[in-house]
Amino acid sequence: MMENTLIDKLIDNARRAALNAYSVYSKFPVGAAFANKSGVIFTGCNVENISFGLTNCAERTAVFKSISEGNREIETLVVYTPTQKPTPPCGACRQVIAEFNKNARIICVCDSNQRIDTTLDKLFPVPDFTVNLRK
Ligand code: THU
Repeated sequence: MMENTLIDKLIDNARRAALNAYSVYSKFPVGAAFANKSGVIFTGCNVENISFGLTNCAERTAVFKSISEGNREIETLVVYTPTQKPTPPCGACRQVIAEFNKNARIICVCDSNQRIDTTLDKLFPVPDFTVNLRK
């Protein structure tokens, strides 16, 4: 179980990451933040493109940034949207997070008190379609 102070820090980081969102088409900014076991925080925002399918979600931006910097630990991931209801990660992001931690804690916060606090195995219960590819 994680300290509330770290969760508050992740929420703060996710909120600040959302300020960098490039969401000119959807007007739906998203920020994500997670820490590794040493408390180093990685953040991401959504980055849209005029070729809409090339859009990268905040969660995947954060994961890809961390992997490219040498970190593969994802313990608790926070998603922030400036909305009245929390936004859970999309299916693609669930698959990408599952690559590194099938049991990651996922906390989704917004501008109301509503919150989703769950684990990836609940959001994405059958990740291992790749059973014949993994050795
Ligand atoms: N988006 C995210 O970044 N994360 C989510 O969890 C949901 C969706 C982005 C993708 C797109 O830029 C915008 O939100 C609208 O779907």
